[in-house]
Amino acid sequence: MREKVTIPDLMEKRAKGEPITMLTCYDYPTALLEEKAGVDIILVGDSVGMTVYGHSSTLPVTMDIMIAHCQAVRRGAPGALLIGDMPYLSYQVSVTEAVRNAGRFMQEAACDAVKLEGGRSMAPVFRALTGAGIPAMGHLGLTPQSLAMLGGFRAQGRDAEAAWRVIEDASILEGAGAFSILLEAVPPEVGDETTRRASIPIISIGAGPHCDGQLLIVHDLLGFFERFTPRFVKKYADLNHTILEAFQAYLSDVAARNFPSPEHCYPMKKGELARLASLIASAKGRCEEENP
Ligand code: KIV
Repeated sequence: MREKVTIPDLMEKRAKGEPITMLTCYDYPTALLEEKAGVDIILVGDSVGMTVYGHSSTLPVTMDIMIAHCQAVRRGAPGALLIGDMPYLSYQVSVTEAVRNAGRFMQEAACDAVKLEGGRSMAPVFRALTGAGIPAMGHLGLTPQSLAMLGGFRAQGRDAEAAWRVIEDASILEGAGAFSILLEAVPPEVGDETTRRASIPIISIGAGPHCDGQLLIVHDLLGFFERFTPRFVKKYADLNHTILEAFQAYLSDVAARNFPSPEHCYPMKKGELARLASLIASAKGRCEEENP
């Protein structure tokens, strides 16, 4: 088992210019594989609402759903730095609720940190979380919990003012205690400038190659989510195709009685087949005597 990844480890990677790797994860078997691959950070994202539960946005995801998925992922990935994504309404209503809900990720699911969306208006929440000893990652650019305000899943920071606002927000959140910031779907120049100004790790999901690390949603990377594919996704596998082929092969095997074959069946213990035959024969004899 590898040594646990810590926030100082991430700072060290940033200082050395070594890229930080990050993936989302929602379940135990995938966590086992991400851990085996050696990913630095695992985010249990509220994207679970779309990738696993089939919702059209992340808004229906609740704290209880997030905690259950974080617990499963922690069991499979004891070594990765595990971040629980704070779902919609778990931190926007009050700072007190934000601390209580963030604390649940740490206490009930053994997370190492939490992530929350939003710019400068979230600075008081970052200060409170840091004060409570809960490491918090910021999330700027395309923030899916504000989809209604943003008008859909579209790139952000593409004009100079909007870009500058993202860059400024990152500095403000760092000043409020964020240990790292995730930048989603902004031009690479915004990723570059934000990273240059920061003294904490800046992670990109669609923010170009100049950031300190990269994140992809695991279902996108594996080709396991068909509804849409953002421009920033690189597919490393085609699981949809592989799984569909496996299901179709199973259905035709069953239809043709090719499955199960002898290697999938449990043999009787030695000598027991003859004894069973005699039990069946004597039961049949009794039945014929009773019903001539
Ligand atoms: O929920 C999630 O997976 C995320 C990523 C899109 C960054 O927040």
